[in-house]
Amino acid sequence: MNRRRGRTLALAAVAAALLAGCAPPAQNGDTVSLPAVVPAPASIEQAAGAPFRLSDSTRIEGEADAATALTALVEARTGLSPAANGGGPTVTVAIERGGPAESYRLVADEASVTITGADDAGLFYGVQTLGQLIARDGDDWIVPAVSIDDAPRFAYRGVMLDVARHFHSVETVKAYIDDAAGLKFNALHLHLSDDQGWRIELHSRPKLTELAAGSAVGGDAGGFYTRDDYREIVEHAASRHMIVVPEIDMPGHTHAVGLAYPELVEEPVIADHMREDGSELPESGKHYGGIAVGFSSLKIHDEATYDFAADVFGELAAMTPGPYLHLGGDEALGTPDEDFALFVSRVSGIIADLGKTPVAWHEAGDAPDLAEATVGQYWGFMRPTDGMDDKARGFVRNGGRLILSPADAIYLDMQYPTGPQLGLTWANGPTSVQRAYEWEPSTILADVDDSDILGVEAPLWSETIRTLDDIETMAFPRIAAAAEAGWSPATDASELRTWDSFRERVGSLGPLWTSLGIGFHPSDEIDWATE
Ligand code: ACM
Repeated sequence: MNRRRGRTLALAAVAAALLAGCAPPAQNGDTVSLPAVVPAPASIEQAAGAPFRLSDSTRIEGEADAATALTALVEARTGLSPAANGGGPTVTVAIERGGPAESYRLVADEASVTITGADDAGLFYGVQTLGQLIARDGDDWIVPAVSIDDAPRFAYRGVMLDVARHFHSVETVKAYIDDAAGLKFNALHLHLSDDQGWRIELHSRPKLTELAAGSAVGGDAGGFYTRDDYREIVEHAASRHMIVVPEIDMPGHTHAVGLAYPELVEEPVIADHMREDGSELPESGKHYGGIAVGFSSLKIHDEATYDFAADVFGELAAMTPGPYLHLGGDEALGTPDEDFALFVSRVSGIIADLGKTPVAWHEAGDAPDLAEATVGQYWGFMRPTDGMDDKARGFVRNGGRLILSPADAIYLDMQYPTGPQLGLTWANGPTSVQRAYEWEPSTILADVDDSDILGVEAPLWSETIRTLDDIETMAFPRIAAAAEAGWSPATDASELRTWDSFRERVGSLGPLWTSLGIGFHPSDEIDWATE
């Protein structure tokens, strides 16, 4: 996790915003002062004794991957160079199987630090927690005496990156994986196709990248991942205990498909919102660089469409070790309802026949013949409108579970109330950090409880997002709120799950993020610690 980028932007931004000074230590209730960890752990107790002191002679021993990751993290945060053969007090990283998946225990005292993971992922998360615990003490670096027992609330904790509206390089995607893994996310959903461009090379359909990948929103340069690029992303994600969930959005959001295979798509139709805001109707066969939605559709009653879906998802299934393939299904405003239901049912069946679990945006949830156990992704508001909640419940009735992405809370591309001129506002934006934080997964959809919820995912659409700095500015710190919704106990089950606690804990992460080169937005809602 020793990051590759310069720190200039983050340091400049922080320097400008840090006049507020050091955040006090996180409070648990009114009485107990606890070290700050984000996402809040299931259980944390501060021990009475002296802290563990880090130095160049600190010995880090145990599981090789975890020891390497921890050494890099300590170096990035402190500049110290602990070593496997150091002669000083020891940090031990070990696996002790038997606990819940992805869980870990961390015990630190004056003499030693021990992180025990129930599996490799749990150990990795314990290492991330230790990175957050490292603090300055005069000229020294310490780990406070503490005991943490931690495990995730939800199995799926995702971030989504839209690489279609603007293309993002392999290096950028790998950096965002590192960023997200540090907050215990375990899934990267890549939105690989949209009206503006197709971003993944497929042997079965070469024209997609020859003819439909070259451009992006506003006529900016496009791009695509070769199969080797995709493999590199998948492998990098796996090294950070993340799966990749590839999305090919269908049957709408497919104008770019028509640049390559015009026989598969309908003529564009103008959607109501385009009439209202004066957007021009996109032209068949010509690149689309605007940001309207809902005007394109694959042909529903043509078998060639399903041959296409079988080719595309067949190749993706072979390239993707994770269990999920996402078929999109949102905003197919130009596709008649019955056709839409027929389409998503058939394509979910194609994916299920490939041995993968289909995922679809919530609109697909009431299709009568959806493949059993298809996962739904809810992207409505925290208070559902227009029957979106009922569509989402359709997945549960069909034996599936839900990923929650409430757009007015954790769409990370929504503008901040004060900050950079980036992002959109349509999802009740601007979206403050406090709004991103103050929601509880089990209360978003009536009759949907934890057992129906696979997890939480924070999408980042890229109509206005061009660079890694843009991504990190929009994501951080709000991504930490999504991490807490996905990992931490429910809001009524932990004293740490309050906005006041979160804002203090997240404020103390500023120096760590800076040392990792993460260009976060120094929101004025938070008192950022300087060191
Ligand atoms: C979406 O935001 N259209 C899923």
